[in-house]
Amino acid sequence: MRLVVTGGAGFIGANFVRTVVRDHPDAHLTVLDSMTYAANSASLADLPADRVEVVEADCADQAVTDGLVAGLTGPRDAVVHFAAESHNDNSLAAPWPFVHSNIVGTYAILEACRRHDVRLHHVSTDEVYGDLELDDPAKFTPETAYNPSSPYSATKAGSDMLVRAWVRSFGLRATISNCSNNYGPYQHVEKFIPRQITNLLTGRRPRLYGSGANVRDWIHVHDHNAAVLRILERGELGRTYLVGADGERSNLQVMQMICELMGAGDGGDDPGFDHVTDRPGHDLRYAIDASRTREELGWEPRYTDLREGLRQTIDWYRHHPDWWEPVKARVEARYAQTERVL
Ligand code: NAD
Ligand code: TYD
Repeated sequence: MRLVVTGGAGFIGANFVRTVVRDHPDAHLTVLDSMTYAANSASLADLPADRVEVVEADCADQAVTDGLVAGLTGPRDAVVHFAAESHNDNSLAAPWPFVHSNIVGTYAILEACRRHDVRLHHVSTDEVYGDLELDDPAKFTPETAYNPSSPYSATKAGSDMLVRAWVRSFGLRATISNCSNNYGPYQHVEKFIPRQITNLLTGRRPRLYGSGANVRDWIHVHDHNAAVLRILERGELGRTYLVGADGERSNLQVMQMICELMGAGDGGDDPGFDHVTDRPGHDLRYAIDASRTREELGWEPRYTDLREGLRQTIDWYRHHPDWWEPVKARVEARYAQTERVL
């Protein structure tokens, strides 16, 4: 089995590559990654070079993409497309890289897969559906209308639409997954959970946007990647699969769990974190109904205890400062330009 994994040096992609190397001894992987600020070559450095090749290039570069996809000729070969600009806060400050990587990049991948009749799995997000009210009993399903809020989610929605059009118009052999918020090892410290953990590890105060009432539906990255593998193996071509683990929590709840697990706060007046200026246009709540993915593909999340998953994640960051320390100060300096303690 040969896989081209775009964005394989980022958070979810690197975890995917590591899992496939461990569990599929017959697999050869080519990582296509432009090594943006979000990539970290250390995430792949210990993997065997005869199984994992890293090509540093832009997936929007049609010549490169075409050359790599042309080599996928086996019945189980595929492109797994993780590459994207992925951080909402950055998309508010500078939207263009999101249009380029998420839309133009996906277009180039689609064209290469079409030319060479190669199977594609497109990795997307639940944020394409917009947000839900806190008390809405409904969750996102594959039928929910797209209603993205930020430049990030709008460009991911655009990329999904391109994939759907290529399936319908050209018979492209593709599947899509829309997953909820991931956490786990190798996640960039700009994101909510690793930011708070590494703030505490470096003597900084954790930062909660606004009141922290916003709800995210957390899933461990290993559960997400198990679903992606299951879709590659058993998914029906042309289908969209929703991936989530019933992990809804408010940001305040997650923050309190992290502070408690790391011994922050004094148990009295000081909760151990600061409330800061809210994100403009901040989506209120995401929630995934993954029942069809579970029933049809027999996939089940294994990390069902968020507190335990967070404890393991905190341990990982505690034991891997070499992986995140080099970028921490830069990320915080950037946040400091716009963030104000309330
Ligand atoms: P990430 O930002 O950690 O990694 C993205 C990777 O893509 C980086 O290595 C980056 O260098 C690479 N990349 C960006 N633009 C590229 C380009 N033009 N060409 C080649 N490589 C490029 O992101 P992530 O959190 O690992 O997310 C991976 C995918 O999963 C994204 O498509 C994202 O939308 C989706 N997703 C993420 C989450 C989440 O919670 N993180 C949830 C659901 C879906
Ligand atoms: P994030 O990890 O950026 O993911 P997304 O925007 O895709 O949901 O943020 C998760 C939630 O945490 C989101 O509601 C914004 C909030 N947040 C904070 O409260 N503090 C922070 O420092 C960050 C980065 C995010």
